[in-house]
Amino acid sequence: MTKQEFDKYIKNVDESKKELAASWAIGIGLQQVDRLNVSEYLLDLAKRNIEGEISIAEVKRLIDEYYDKRCPSRKYRYRSTYTRIPNDSKLCYTRLRGTKMKNIPYIDLHCHLDGSITLDIARKLAALQNIELPADDAELEAKLSVPESCESLNEFLECFALPCSLMQTIEGITESVHLVQEKMKGQGIAYLELRFAPQKHCDKGLTQKQVIDAALAGLKMSDLHTNLILCLMRDKGNEKENMETIELAKEYLVKDGGVVAVDLAGAEALFPTADFASPFAKAKEYGIPFTIHAGEADGAGSVHTALDFGAKRIGHGVRTKEDTALLEYIIKNQIPLEMCPNSNRQTKSVDDMSKYPIWEYLAKGVKVTINTDDPAICRTTIAKEFKYLEDKFGITAADEKIMLLNATDAAFTDAATKAALKKAIESAF
Ligand code: HPA
Ligand code: ZN
Repeated sequence: MTKQEFDKYIKNVDESKKELAASWAIGIGLQQVDRLNVSEYLLDLAKRNIEGEISIAEVKRLIDEYYDKRCPSRKYRYRSTYTRIPNDSKLCYTRLRGTKMKNIPYIDLHCHLDGSITLDIARKLAALQNIELPADDAELEAKLSVPESCESLNEFLECFALPCSLMQTIEGITESVHLVQEKMKGQGIAYLELRFAPQKHCDKGLTQKQVIDAALAGLKMSDLHTNLILCLMRDKGNEKENMETIELAKEYLVKDGGVVAVDLAGAEALFPTADFASPFAKAKEYGIPFTIHAGEADGAGSVHTALDFGAKRIGHGVRTKEDTALLEYIIKNQIPLEMCPNSNRQTKSVDDMSKYPIWEYLAKGVKVTINTDDPAICRTTIAKEFKYLEDKFGITAADEKIMLLNATDAAFTDAATKAALKKAIESAF
């Protein structure tokens, strides 16, 4: 029975019966398993109870059984929250959603500057630099975001050409960092780690150092708590540029309020992680923390290599599960995964999203964090990412809280910032 069918059905049910059955089943379902996306199974149980086929005790037992199957880890069970809530499922939806959207201090640890140039930001950057853009919004939007037909990360990465062309001057870079932060703040982000590859902004003669200085100037213009991650690029013939980024990261590294880490971005399937041992050996020698995009377009071996290099976090890491021992390793060592669901869907990082391992990772205790990757290119926001997980997988508020606390632990920032974020999360849930 679909939710629409259930809503129609419940309208004609006697009030006293609704009290007993629907509120229990939906209440338990919403809070325990499918908070905003009541599964058809739970609605079916509610209907069977209303019709006197099964007792409420049986409803509870079957829900527990269902929940055990979906999420076997005790950590993710909320047996104690059998609460009666109003018997109109629509009301429950609004209430829970309303509470959620207002207060949550979102954290985005994996967000690319060049993937965050939305239509309005692109127009402002173009006007500032006298660059001509297509006058038609739909045409421009199509150039700034990924088509639904995207088949791979390689194709996805082609969308970065236009936004990068708008960030080749000091003012273009400064203003883009400022505008992206303001946009993210407006979308509920409380702490942001914004990443970019300095070498991708040198087409018109800027040096990498000038690019970083320009980004740091932009950082000061917004009061959103933001740190920068400098990306190396997967490519051939850019070894010198990658090494220069490492040297600059060493020079600029701070614990908070500037450059806090480095990363490796670009086409993972074309340029394997193993080819980048030298710059990351240097990063390790210098004590620069780093994350690496791995297990996105390439398999678990790529994650393995990144961890061998000394990566503190993994960008995406969706395909880690292909190697059971590796999965156990990241659980035991609490290596955070910066997961980006809609980006993974668009790059076909998993061929069938119903097999996206979010439940498996959460249930097994992987340190999962949720991020946007490229909000403009993916046409997403952090709230949309969580909503997607709620709708598609029945991720609950409690799971979201765990993932936000994971992000706090994983953040490349100081202890005071982490403590403040944790406090804000605790009071929001
Ligand atoms: N992978 C690699 N490089 C990238 C990505 C990504 O998902 N997004 C932007 N640059
Ligand atoms: Zn990325």
